Amino acid sequence: MIIGVPKEIKNNENRVALTPAGAKELVKRGHQVYVQHTAGQGSGFSDDEYTAAGAAILPTIEDVYSIAEMIIKVKEPIEPEYKLIKEGQLLFTYFHFASYEPLTKAMVENKSICLAYETVEKADRSLPLLVPMSEVAGRMSIQKGANYLEKPLKGRGILLGGVPGVLPAKVLILGGGVVGTQAAWMAAGLGADVTIMDVSLPRMRYLDDVMPANVNTMMSNEYNIREMIKHADLIVGAVLIPGAKAPHLITRDMLKEMKPGTVLVDVAVDQGGCIETCKPTTHENPTYIIDDVVHYCVANMPGAVPYTSTLALTNATLPYAIQLADKGWKKAALENAELVPGLNVINGDIVYKAVAEAFDMDYVPVEKYLA
Ligand SMILES: NC(=O)c1ccc[n+]([C@@H]2O[C@H](COP(=O)([O-])OP(=O)(O)OC[C@H]3O[C@@H](n4cnc5c(N)ncnc54)[C@H](O)[C@@H]3O)[C@@H](O)[C@H]2O)c1
Repeated sequence: MIIGVPKEIKNNENRVALTPAGAKELVKRGHQVYVQHTAGQGSGFSDDEYTAAGAAILPTIEDVYSIAEMIIKVKEPIEPEYKLIKEGQLLFTYFHFASYEPLTKAMVENKSICLAYETVEKADRSLPLLVPMSEVAGRMSIQKGANYLEKPLKGRGILLGGVPGVLPAKVLILGGGVVGTQAAWMAAGLGADVTIMDVSLPRMRYLDDVMPANVNTMMSNEYNIREMIKHADLIVGAVLIPGAKAPHLITRDMLKEMKPGTVLVDVAVDQGGCIETCKPTTHENPTYIIDDVVHYCVANMPGAVPYTSTLALTNATLPYAIQLADKGWKKAALENAELVPGLNVINGDIVYKAVAEAFDMDYVPVEKYLA
């Protein structure tokens, strides 16, 4: 198969969908890989590394789209790319269709085949191509939180791990899923006094089993949250209710209960945030202060560490990309059920129910194409 890797053109996106190692795997299997000039630069991969891996470099994004049977990307195509996509071309990338109608309509009109990273799903309902970015954001939340707790950055001026004779900082993590667990590992490793709050008892039993002694679990409810925020130095928002907006577990009035200089890192901000006063911020302007409480609410945290994020993402996407390249999308989906929910748009039909419902458009069951 002819595979194209365009350079990401979305603002501040430095990740790339294929590493030189990934290119080598595909070339080894007899596929042709075309990478746009400097596509890997933001993640630290040069054109020469791709060439050495057997890929060819093309000068422009137009060249890549016009030659490829399958495009592998990171972010959803944006407007200038819509017209480059060809009928029957397979696009394997994040789409988040339900949040943007013009993208959905454009992909319906161009009759491409859109396989979305975010809806590829394992039998246990986990989302293998979303997990890596949650892992990155979870670990980063503590790195950022520790930083903003420093006085010059308007924090309380407390060191997460304390020192001999001085107590460590208290870290409160709301939600013990992928983000919360990774945050807890990092905070615990730095010596903080960590509490994870969740509503799932089985999840808390698991966390209690695997976490070190400086991590405790506690049932998430309003009463407990109100108690805990009075003492917390760093609070991480990591709640997810699949398919829904995050609930506001920390409301505006609760900020007054917190110590001045407390830091809030609301990782769930991309789903509306679990802290009422959190509004999306950017890496250029990551924080703001309300009631002496520092708010860090960057909606695309992994974007700040493109090297790690690219490797984490491509570790997860490459096995699927190989199946798609070896077999074509139809055979690959017939032989691997995890890919089926990834199919969102095929040949002008919306085959993912929630996307069709989001825009009141026609839904065609994916089985039509997999019979
Ligand atoms: N800002 C970013 O850059 C970035 C990056 C990656 C992920 N995220 C977001 O982080 C959030 C968490 O993702 P995840 O992968 O950890 O999800 P997850 O599904 O693995 O975990 C969510 C956890 O929240 C718990 N939960 C649900 N309701 C709760 C409540 N009322 N109180 C406490 N816990 C509750 C669930 O039981 C679950 O354990 C998502 O919104 C995700 O989109 C943001």
